[in-house]
Amino acid sequence: MAEETTQRILALKRDRQAIILAHNYQPAAIQDIADITGDSLELSRQAASTDARVIVFCGVHFMAETAAILNPGRVVVLPRLEAGCPMADMITAQDLLAIKEQHPAVPIVTYVNSTAAVKAESTVCCTSANSIRVVESFKDAETVYMTPDQNLAMYTARHTRKKVLHWHGYCPIHDRLTLDHIHKAREEHPEALVVAHPECRPEVLEAADFVKSTSGMLHYVAESSHGEFIIATELGILHPMRKQNPGKKFYPASRAMICPDMKRIGLEDILLALETLQPRITVPEETRLRALKAVERMLAAG
Ligand code: 13P
Ligand code: SF4
Repeated sequence: MAEETTQRILALKRDRQAIILAHNYQPAAIQDIADITGDSLELSRQAASTDARVIVFCGVHFMAETAAILNPGRVVVLPRLEAGCPMADMITAQDLLAIKEQHPAVPIVTYVNSTAAVKAESTVCCTSANSIRVVESFKDAETVYMTPDQNLAMYTARHTRKKVLHWHGYCPIHDRLTLDHIHKAREEHPEALVVAHPECRPEVLEAADFVKSTSGMLHYVAESSHGEFIIATELGILHPMRKQNPGKKFYPASRAMICPDMKRIGLEDILLALETLQPRITVPEETRLRALKAVERMLAAG
């Protein structure tokens, strides 16, 4: 049944001139069928450079929206419209207006895990892979304001001399990981290195051996001569890690690190999305153009 669905997806993908992009947290079957998998930054870059007519985005809403911001002429579909990101919903465009009123000369650096309306009110976007670079790109500003993730902001602040003010959003999946989880995992696997995502709490990041975006983690474990790793991020990343590194061992820092929104899409949803070109993600043009500036500025920062 899954094989038949896969074959129909592949045939329809060709007919539609479609590309399937999947985030590193997607279910294994989705990652395996995707043309490209990656972290938020890599997927944004792919969305910016594709010549496909249809982008099937397997991830959460803000990721598909970013693809739509970058590709007004292409059809962008998110196979399950309800796949959202709770962190992205922790700040509104109204909140941004209030921040700008309070800090008129301060650049606003917004994590891509945000709505198009919030991006439109921001100076620049960033991802977990480039937040330090983006903040450093403001040569004349001593202070920046980061939204919505407080943990990414505090992590970035520790790696720059700039003053970093921040909003109080967080990822419920990463923020629930505690220092106790790390200590326990280290006790169980004393030889393993701890690799953590910047959305984790400061004390967890302090206790980690290495902090990176999801794709940064994949590169790190592949290149490291070490053979065992404790992984402090969403469990979906374990699939490509194990597939790409059959000789190495990977242990989740906590088995509770599952993002339900990242698990909503199934193969049948992709097939239906290719058949109907729905649910389509679009952004009102005025918002899109303003959000585009913030996304392009991020892509230019590297
Ligand atoms: P990455 O950009 O590191 O893939 O992270 C996206 C995300 O949603 C993490 O929770
Ligand atoms: Fe949002 Fe966290 Fe899920 Fe990433 S893991 S999509 S930040 S809720």
